Amino acid sequence: MVKARARFQARVAKSALISGITGQDGSYLAELLLSKGYTVFGLVRRLSVPNLGNLRPIAERVTLIDGDLMDQSSLNAAVQKAAPDEVYNLAAQSFVGTSFVQPVLTGEITGLGVLRILEAVRAHAPHARVYQASSSEMFGHVDREPQDEMTPFHPRSPYGVAKVYGYWACINYREAHGLFVANGILFNHESERRGFEFVTRKISHGVAMIHVGRAKTISLGNLEAKRDWGYAPEYVDMMWRMLQQDIPGDFVGATGEAHSVEEFAAAAFEVAGIEDWKKHVVVDEKNFRPAEVYNLRGNPAKAKRALGWEPRTKFHDLVRIMVEADIAGLQAGTIPVRPVS
Ligand code: NAP
Ligand code: GDD
Repeated sequence: MVKARARFQARVAKSALISGITGQDGSYLAELLLSKGYTVFGLVRRLSVPNLGNLRPIAERVTLIDGDLMDQSSLNAAVQKAAPDEVYNLAAQSFVGTSFVQPVLTGEITGLGVLRILEAVRAHAPHARVYQASSSEMFGHVDREPQDEMTPFHPRSPYGVAKVYGYWACINYREAHGLFVANGILFNHESERRGFEFVTRKISHGVAMIHVGRAKTISLGNLEAKRDWGYAPEYVDMMWRMLQQDIPGDFVGATGEAHSVEEFAAAAFEVAGIEDWKKHVVVDEKNFRPAEVYNLRGNPAKAKRALGWEPRTKFHDLVRIMVEADIAGLQAGTIPVRPVS
């Protein structure tokens, strides 16, 4: 264990390029890599209003490079500029619900975007190690439980289909071109930086809105869906560990426990001290998906064995972290008052 830690530390003073640095995982990963002494570059796309809130604590310490997963030349230029030892491809159209409404865009960014990253690395930094943000959504309609690295894929959304494409593109570049590419097949991980449309944040923010008297109900969809929810800062550590291995591989990251949306909601209202929670939840057809993933639960045994990685935050602690952060943020005016339906 001590030997392993020394080996990790001996390999610092590297540079990393993170796509998706403005998102939940990208911002936590940037903080982790800075703490290890990395020079951190982040790819950011042009938006009409900049979206750098998650980077506020480290704004002065990262170098942002303009680029878009839709645009090969910008990725080539970004890789050339960063000359990275490690590339973390976290950018994606990451919301499953939107992928049903914008399937082609999702395929372009979340699927083909991976290929564009791989092409940029192959041409301009072939020795760089690449992490690909693959997903448990690839398992989709599962026929066994828990899911591990050998479980077949049956994606249920354009997002899941695009992630399967990206996953296999990575393996192909490993086999065909000898690139060091590793897929993290991560189950849901959440935090106080989670996007507002994902169900956990929709609930934690909605409960906080009710708690401070700015809303009366939350509109949800399938309360029976089950997910394996972990805490995001712990999952970015797994990404880093995967790129410190001698041989690239694919790993499931999960807690091994599944809970339903209903359980999450009940726990969140309890944290806020709101009784009779069912009175505050409206089930609305518009929040259901054309094809649902009913039940995901991962087996992280390989990651534990080979990477020494293990999630620590338990389900009820995760709910508490998110609800308390949203209540505090609304009270301080640092989190927006938003519609909750
Ligand atoms: P997120 O918060 O939605 O962040 C997505 C990032 O991608 C944002 O920085 C976004 O930039 C960027 N992006 C979107 N389209 C882009 C484009 N065309 N070009 C460049 N950048 C673009 O997602 P996350 O939760 O951190 O997840 C990170 C990655 O892990 C994603 O690939 C996701 O699919 C995958 N994943 C997540 C989970 C999870 O539970 N969180 C589980 C498995 C896999 P803007 O700020 O400009 O929008
Ligand atoms: N978003 C949302 N909104 N989901 C709801 C709602 C609602 O009002 N009501 C019920 N759900 C159910 C969804 O139908 C789904 O079964 C479950 O809650 C989780 O939905 P999301 O939080 O949107 O996450 P996801 O599991 O679809 O996708 C997330 O996890 C994947 C890993 O499995 C995203 O982070 C993906 O990017 C990631 O790959």
